[in-house]
Amino acid sequence: MELEEFVTSLESLAILAEQAFSDAKFHEDFEAARVQFVGARSGQIKAIQKELGSVPSESRPEAGKKLNQVKNRIQAALDAAQIRVSSGASPKPSGPILDPTLPGTRRHLGRIHPITQTIEHLKEIMGRLGFAVVEGPEVEDTWHNFIALNIPEDHPARDPLDNFYLSVAGKTSVDVNADEARLLRSQTSTVQIRVMGSNPPPVRIISLGRVYRPDPADATHFPMFHQMEGLWIDHGVTMAQLKSVLRMFATSYLGGDVTIRFRPSFFPFTEPSVEADFLWNDQWIEFGGAGMVDPNVLKAVGYDPESVTGFAFGLGVERLCMRRHGVLDIRDLYRNDLRFLHQF
Ligand code: FA5
Repeated sequence: MELEEFVTSLESLAILAEQAFSDAKFHEDFEAARVQFVGARSGQIKAIQKELGSVPSESRPEAGKKLNQVKNRIQAALDAAQIRVSSGASPKPSGPILDPTLPGTRRHLGRIHPITQTIEHLKEIMGRLGFAVVEGPEVEDTWHNFIALNIPEDHPARDPLDNFYLSVAGKTSVDVNADEARLLRSQTSTVQIRVMGSNPPPVRIISLGRVYRPDPADATHFPMFHQMEGLWIDHGVTMAQLKSVLRMFATSYLGGDVTIRFRPSFFPFTEPSVEADFLWNDQWIEFGGAGMVDPNVLKAVGYDPESVTGFAFGLGVERLCMRRHGVLDIRDLYRNDLRFLHQF
């Protein structure tokens, strides 16, 4: 037999044997393939090995080398099949094939809204300054939103055009001065009354939440926004402490290089009152109102203004968030545009 013919037969034998071993599912298939190809007496390798003698002597070393290579290939296929069959793994699973090396399907994870992130951050800063967090309802009565806050009946802040009054069941028109009148709170200062109304002094709290005003939306106004109310009542609390708390808060949240200023102002529930602004792109932007709690408010909740004093402030959460993150339009926070929100 010529070398070429010998090598061709070896090649076909190797292919057949590898196929048979990789097809073997059960022990019986494996045994049959083993006997057919490598059986000591009638195996096909043995048969072809006998042909080696008929290859011309000068080609015999080459033929012998080829024979050994094919034996090794077949042995490797046999070993792999033996391991697979004895471990019970099927060579061709019938169910869906799991390929753990394929890239996974990416899920779109949501994120915490920037305002919620801001609220958490503000709580953390104020917590370090010793302020506990309390909550209050968004639907309020006139006592908490106005009367106890020293806002009398004829005050323009109570105007139906400046508030979202709710209709009372069974009534077609709303008497905004009636006890039963309800509205979406226009400020978080309502929580001052709730806290002082049910706790003796001292109190040192903040409250963060939504407030509602029929303000037309523009770059710095939105009809629903968030405020952080702060209240500290104790013996001898002063305006100096109010200013330093607001300064510490502002530099902590907005950075040491922020410039803030206090402007004299008026709120019915604080005396004296200020408005606080930060400087942004050469403009003063108001971020909150504050002042010393008016003695009339302390009296309304049963505190003795001769014994305790305190300060309160109400800051716009959106404007703080905007200044920190460079958001130029408040409406971007509420458009629900994921391209914007994913930046936070
Ligand atoms: C008040 O609401 C007072 N309750 C604040 C206060 C609390 C004074 C305690 C004294 C003592 P004002 O209406 O100025 O104040 O609102 C406070 C802040 O809320 C503003 O400085 C601004 O940052 C923010 N703000 C007001 N209106 C809007 C609006 N429509 N959209 C977004 N932010 C607003």
